Amino acid sequence: MADIAPPLASTGSFYRARIASLLAIAPLGIWTAIHLWDNLSAFAGAQAWEQAVTGARHPLHQTLLVVVVLLPLLLHTVWGIVRLASFRPNNVRYGNYDNLKYLLQRVSAIGLLGFIGAHLWLAWAQPRFVEGRPEPFAEISREMAHHTPTLVVYILGILAVSYHLANGIQTFAMGQGLVASAGALRRLEWVVYLTFALLLAMGWGSVFALWRAG
Ligand code: HEM
Repeated sequence: MADIAPPLASTGSFYRARIASLLAIAPLGIWTAIHLWDNLSAFAGAQAWEQAVTGARHPLHQTLLVVVVLLPLLLHTVWGIVRLASFRPNNVRYGNYDNLKYLLQRVSAIGLLGFIGAHLWLAWAQPRFVEGRPEPFAEISREMAHHTPTLVVYILGILAVSYHLANGIQTFAMGQGLVASAGALRRLEWVVYLTFALLLAMGWGSVFALWRAG
């Protein structure tokens, strides 16, 4: 009797992977881009920034934030940690560009674990739930200008987010079977470069505006 090859992944893990990668694009990736855009209002001063970034636009704002952003982030992070655990870099043996991008996706994920954890605590949870008010513009801009570790962590954190999300668009599109031909992959590569440059410009632009105001 002929041997039947075992399935590569169970149906459950197939759907878990699809859902985790979909959540990373929408709503998480879209929200990340909007968040960086909102932060650019730091160029217009304290009032504009507080209105765009920390102001409650809706009575259910915090609940929506938890459901639309933090829950998908948690699910994606758990899925990501499981994938990181089985990762064995082989970039010295296979030093091609695609393998480098694969490595950087994972290195940026590790950076994001630290950055998002610190950012969520210092800029969201601690001001709101310990100090009883949202993060004031005066405080974050002062930290940015006078506390070098904060500035460095934000610069590197935004680099990691921009790379991870932009490159993630490509791995997402390939993983979901949205692109297959060599031509479509090349065109997608330009979308990735453009997204990376835009996210970086918005993020670093915001950091610059906060630093200048501090
Ligand atoms: C702002 C936060 C984040 C966003 C927007 C984001 C976005 C993405 C996107 C779009 C992908 C591509 C999904 C795919 O290939 O189907 C991805 C992959 C990945 N993410 Fe995240 N991510 C974030 C945070 C994190 C964190 C905190 C971790 C921590 C472990 C993480 C770990 C990973 C890993 C390991 C992959 C690669 C999966 C693979 O290709 O097998 N991500 N991320």
